[in-house]
Amino acid sequence: MNSKCLFAFLLVIFVSEVYPICDYKTKCKCPSTKQGQYCGKTLGVSGCDPTHVYECEPYGKVCDYGFRSSCAECGNLTCSNQPPPSSTKPPQKQEPTIQNGEACVFHCKSCASGFGHVAWGFRIGNDNKYTYGSDDGPDNKLHECDVAKKWWNSSGTRAEMLSRFKRENYVNYYCKNTVNPNAEFAQKRMSELKTQKYFLNSPPCKKVANCLTDTYEILYAYNMLKLPSKYVDTLKYGDLLKYPNTWFEDWCDNKCWSL
Ligand SMILES: *[C@@H]1O[C@H](CO)[C@@H](O)[C@H](O)[C@H]1NC(C)=O
Ligand SMILES: *[C@@H]1O[C@H](CO)[C@@H](O)[C@H](O)[C@H]1NC(C)=O
Repeated sequence: MNSKCLFAFLLVIFVSEVYPICDYKTKCKCPSTKQGQYCGKTLGVSGCDPTHVYECEPYGKVCDYGFRSSCAECGNLTCSNQPPPSSTKPPQKQEPTIQNGEACVFHCKSCASGFGHVAWGFRIGNDNKYTYGSDDGPDNKLHECDVAKKWWNSSGTRAEMLSRFKRENYVNYYCKNTVNPNAEFAQKRMSELKTQKYFLNSPPCKKVANCLTDTYEILYAYNMLKLPSKYVDTLKYGDLLKYPNTWFEDWCDNKCWSL
């Protein structure tokens, strides 16, 4: 194996194990002379987020690894933390390492009589370990307010998560990165929501507690700040909730991935 081959091989392992997600749909372009990893700022091309790390691959493919604190701090993959030699100030407190998380929404468009169904997944720590699950709605189809939920949750690798949802006949999904995730709080929220009752998004139910509100609240607890609003249009319709299909379209914004 020559060294280029080995490098490519190691890169594949690195990409699949450490950063299971990178976004090829980015608007950022790499100058053709550049190959390797760069902070968006270094690329000096419009459409690149200066705080993100990009991989410039051969044949012009570009992949966005998302936020990295060093890009935000000094615009470089590594920042030198050396104080200037003449400095008499005490050493600066080191910034805590920023941890990245990943939150996913899984979607079944034809479920729930065509109103759709959504479920969640999120990464725990920086390893390839995910927690995921679904509020599958009421057990008894005749009484859909204040009834027990059918519910499942599980944990495994990213690949195990995807294959579980595929087995359950979900069709699409989409994931986003987040900074400083709180997997512990999301899991606590999951155990609370699991035991709460289900309320359909429709009269005669006087409140809503369904797959959408559960997915939203779990990922909100995880610290996913880029969740679309649950409400149709608060000014016009008050607290009328979106249907899962509409909310998922807002979440993936035409970039949905297939399972
Ligand atoms: C960016 O990192 C490279 C390699 O570590 C280093 O040579 C260069 O001086 C750094 N640039 C800045 C602006 O810190
Ligand atoms: C399901 O979630 C609960 C609450 O977070 C947790 O205690 C339990 O271990 C989870 N089950 C699996 C199989 O991951």
